[in-house]
Amino acid sequence: MPTSLFPHVRLRRLRKTPALRDLVRENAVTMNDLILPIFVEEGIDDPVPVDSMPGIVRIPEKNLAKEIKGIYADGVKAVMLFCVSHKKDAVGSDAWKPDGVLARVIKRAKDAAPELVVIADTCFCEYTDHGHCGVVREGQVDNDATLVNLARQAVNSAQAGADIIAPSAMMDGQIAALRQGLDDAGFTDMPLMAYSTKFASAFYGPFRAAAGCELKGDRKAYQMDPFNGREALRESMLDEAEGADFLMVKPGLPYLDILSKLREATLLPLVAYQVSGEYAMIKFAAAAGAFDEKRIVRETLGAFKRAGADLILSYFARDIAREGF
Ligand code: PBG
Repeated sequence: MPTSLFPHVRLRRLRKTPALRDLVRENAVTMNDLILPIFVEEGIDDPVPVDSMPGIVRIPEKNLAKEIKGIYADGVKAVMLFCVSHKKDAVGSDAWKPDGVLARVIKRAKDAAPELVVIADTCFCEYTDHGHCGVVREGQVDNDATLVNLARQAVNSAQAGADIIAPSAMMDGQIAALRQGLDDAGFTDMPLMAYSTKFASAFYGPFRAAAGCELKGDRKAYQMDPFNGREALRESMLDEAEGADFLMVKPGLPYLDILSKLREATLLPLVAYQVSGEYAMIKFAAAAGAFDEKRIVRETLGAFKRAGADLILSYFARDIAREGF
């Protein structure tokens, strides 16, 4: 408890001027903290706008080099890559083909801007015809069969030049399986950014249109129940034990309690994902005149930092790069 109270204590003393407020500001967001998710589609000539995410497009594969150069020139330092495959099948085999869209897109991105960190989202929902994140057997995603395929996908992404592998399928044991698979293929230095605590969230709605992975049903048999907090910590702690190099909480804003508790529980770098639905809420509310978009974006990014995030995945990352924080 403070030893002295009002009128001796006046917290407004340090809020008087912008310079004073800057001096006592506890958190900052820089371009070193932001990762831009991008969507790349094969076989299209023009960018395809994502209606539920104003300002976001699916980038045609053939324009990728130019787009990546622009993103890097604007000041973005890392991208999370999502591909829209035209060669979907029951298991998502396009994802582990050396000439598949994923491998091609990673290569093109790295060639266009070698210094840009390319993070490969590692999952199957963009590559399966049913839209689930793995191999379906008797109406369920088969955990262990999917692990084998995730390792193949990760090695394919590593061979194509990815800088970080980011598994988002929410299979049990996926970090251990990927670590083993990558190590066996000689990629002992490849970092794993685990989507370690990922909820079965309605906030992913716009993403599914953006990435072309709408599904019948839901992902509740593998992604987490949004009502569970203790289990959320277990998920991340297990990924740490399996060898993850980063942990993540996803979605972001509705789950700051998890982020903050996880900050206390781990020394690993922590990532928050401000997901598609969070982006859409801000865009549509700002378009309706409900609030100032630029200020809201900064307030939300600052909140992730305050809660304990080191890194933030945000569709606003390029705007911040252009405008400054
Ligand atoms: C793939 C994946 C999803 C997102 C990131 N990776 C969709 C899902 O799990 O349904 C969502 C990202 C967003 O909503 O911005 N598994």
